[in-house]
Amino acid sequence: MRECLVIEGGHRLQGVVEISGAKNAALPCMAAALLTAEDCFLENVPAIADVDYMAQVLGSLGVRVESCGPGTLRLNAADITSFAPPSHLVASQRGSFLVMGALLARFGQAACSPPGGDVIGQRPIDVHLAGFAAMGADISRQREKFLARAKRLKGARIFMDYPSVLGTENLLLAASMAKGSSVIVNAAAEPEVVCLAEMLNKMGARIWGAGTHTVEVQGVDELGGVRHRLIPDRIEAGTFAVAAAITDGELELRDAPVAQMDSIICKLREVGAGVEVVEGGLRVWGTGQRRAINIQALPYPGLPTDLQAPMAALLTQAQGVSYVHERVFDDRLLYVGELRKMGAEVVTVGSMAIITGPTPLVGARVRALDVRAGAALVLAALVAQGVSEVCDIHHLQRGYAEMERKLGLVNAAIRRQPLVEAS
Ligand code: EPU
Repeated sequence: MRECLVIEGGHRLQGVVEISGAKNAALPCMAAALLTAEDCFLENVPAIADVDYMAQVLGSLGVRVESCGPGTLRLNAADITSFAPPSHLVASQRGSFLVMGALLARFGQAACSPPGGDVIGQRPIDVHLAGFAAMGADISRQREKFLARAKRLKGARIFMDYPSVLGTENLLLAASMAKGSSVIVNAAAEPEVVCLAEMLNKMGARIWGAGTHTVEVQGVDELGGVRHRLIPDRIEAGTFAVAAAITDGELELRDAPVAQMDSIICKLREVGAGVEVVEGGLRVWGTGQRRAINIQALPYPGLPTDLQAPMAALLTQAQGVSYVHERVFDDRLLYVGELRKMGAEVVTVGSMAIITGPTPLVGARVRALDVRAGAALVLAALVAQGVSEVCDIHHLQRGYAEMERKLGLVNAAIRRQPLVEAS
């Protein structure tokens, strides 16, 4: 059944929001379970569709994935039955391609079609494949699938053309069981990469430098089981921080990973919001004043591309002209057309959105075109006059755990209902 979120705008948000575990840490850590026959326990796993999709991908290979209480998964890859997840499962999200590095490292073979994921521009996987090839893998293509084979991967010095997040994670998975040492140069420094490296080290891997752009890996012959807690989701925390600022509300974001949120904290203060670090999280409040600012989406520690659209929603309510420059993906401004339906004054020039504010927004039926575009529209709906319907919410459910419940608890007028097709 297709559903939408019905949101009545104009309510100040107030209260406490519990931040869930990070989506983009859950996926690589789940893939890491492929590297051992022993049990891996993951804690703080968010209740989102991407985790379910990843569980299905791993299940198709023979991995047993079981829930052991709220937020905890047990994964066991002792009885692998396939090295090739079905393409329709791989298409469900981008993280599925991480099985390549792990299968190749432990079993010397893997076959996977190009992954799915949000439509936010070209999303090649050349740096993943070039890295596997540098470690001695033979890469070929059979119909839609990439095949990778290597008797045993060999450590190598690898320069990544672009500091791809999933690319770095795939190479870490592969290098951790390669023979000899590897150096990944121009690696992604995102906190989710660090979370994966910490898990791998607890499993017996030898990785140094995760969180910097040069990561060294001394390959080991075997990895063992682990219990690992996922980091909190800095993107979810940033989205709720914007929700406080845009509604002139006040939210305490419990478990927000403050040390990983410099860029968003700085930019929210520049707009005029109040942000204070409190014990166990962050307090964010609107001050009634919002100034136009310029933002650029960049690799970490720059402002995350995943918060670019939510920030754009906020800037429709700021005084003056804001420039929003997307510098990570080449087509991540599709939400602009939906914001315009609500009355926002936004034009795009290439990968730049130019926003003139403040404009009163009005409730409308809009589409969540990807996870973060959907979040931007929910934020806009929270301040729009009247009622909005945000459709295609399966995108939101991929990345935000119980978003409408969390918003409802802090005074948003929001409910989920079946979509009634417009006549
Ligand atoms: N790129 C290449 N070659 C490659 C891979 C990537 O040129 O082989 C380029 C892409 O074209 C893009 C840029 O690198 O322009 C960034 O892509 P990256 O590979 O870093 O992104 P990703 O690993 O596919 C992850 C997150 C995204 C997040 C980006 C950037 C996961 C599952 N996804 O994607 O999260 O936006 O890093 O931080 O970890 C989201 O959560 O909504 C989301 C899209």
